Amino acid sequence: MQSSLFRKKDIYKVRDVNAHDNLEKVLGPIDLLAIGIGALMGTGIFVLTGVQAAQFSGPAVIISLAIAAMAAMFIGLVYTEVASAVPSSGGSYTYTYVSLGEMIAFMVGWLYLLYCLCAIPAVASGWGGYLVGILDQFHIHLPEALTKTPFEEGGMLNVPAMAVCLLMMLILLRGVKESATLNIILVFIKLFAAFLFIALAFPHFKFSNWSDFMPFGFKGVSISAGVLFFAYNGFDAVANAAEECKNPTRDITIGLIGSLIICAIVYILIAVMLTGIVHYTKLNTPEALAYALKVNGSNIGGAIVAAGGIAGMTTVILFQLYSVTRILMAMSRDRLLPVVFSKIHKKYHTPHIATIFCGILCSLVAGLFPL
Ligand code: ALA
Repeated sequence: MQSSLFRKKDIYKVRDVNAHDNLEKVLGPIDLLAIGIGALMGTGIFVLTGVQAAQFSGPAVIISLAIAAMAAMFIGLVYTEVASAVPSSGGSYTYTYVSLGEMIAFMVGWLYLLYCLCAIPAVASGWGGYLVGILDQFHIHLPEALTKTPFEEGGMLNVPAMAVCLLMMLILLRGVKESATLNIILVFIKLFAAFLFIALAFPHFKFSNWSDFMPFGFKGVSISAGVLFFAYNGFDAVANAAEECKNPTRDITIGLIGSLIICAIVYILIAVMLTGIVHYTKLNTPEALAYALKVNGSNIGGAIVAAGGIAGMTTVILFQLYSVTRILMAMSRDRLLPVVFSKIHKKYHTPHIATIFCGILCSLVAGLFPL
């Protein structure tokens, strides 16, 4: 390596480190596809889409989702290309190190860590809100002080949001194969919920709900496209799993592009049905999908979809947390962060200190700050 702030990492050394590190190479194409869907499908479609339709785009939220999907697909194609050449846990951080040098890689790494420290607690707060909503339906009421953050919401701690971060941390500590297996089950539940929503909504579809298709003009559609890009965030988790794959080049391509295509199709179908069964003005609620089914007379369907929403957000938290621990590990391996973060647990083959650190930090942010 050159000795300057812009020194670059040798691509062959990255591959060599990956071949000899202590992480288990246990993930296959189905695991990666499920990791992609797991990391993508969550708050964006289950919480944000209805609110965006009500506030900015109306039924044309369908177009917003398609625009965001196209942007995500271009980025996904680039990711696939680079991740196949540099299969590393560090993802975008390592790609930058190889191509643009240490200083920019350091900044990219930190930006990613900060993004995750905002995104994971945000999804955890949404998760807590959904859980409280479902428990309320069963007449189980958690004390308000323990479901609201002290800042702005006037509570003490958002305990459900903290608990889900800590639970995901424990699962990740146990091993990547175990996490991937749990993920497959949860992805199955959320896809089931998504298709159930589409099937139950179909008979109630009314074109009259689309009479005012683009009420806020193209400006509103593009605002929603920007916000709903969030619904496609997370596919980098697939790239970050490269070091733990049996065959990174093939598996990453299948996982990344496959999950983007599946999510884009499911999102658009959901948005078509959502805006077709309820007038967009009534969708300004975080549980829009469940609400839309309930007003059309399907309470049980609404409950199942809400449970699917919880499963969806759980996997998003799981694999965003996974990504952040792997980037921390990669930066520590390059001595850009304390070396302790790259220690690998002898029995579970996971970066346990990085995992505990990120899990506790995210849980504190989720407990103290509002969505
Ligand atoms: N794409 C993820 C979600 O929608 C971040 O929750």
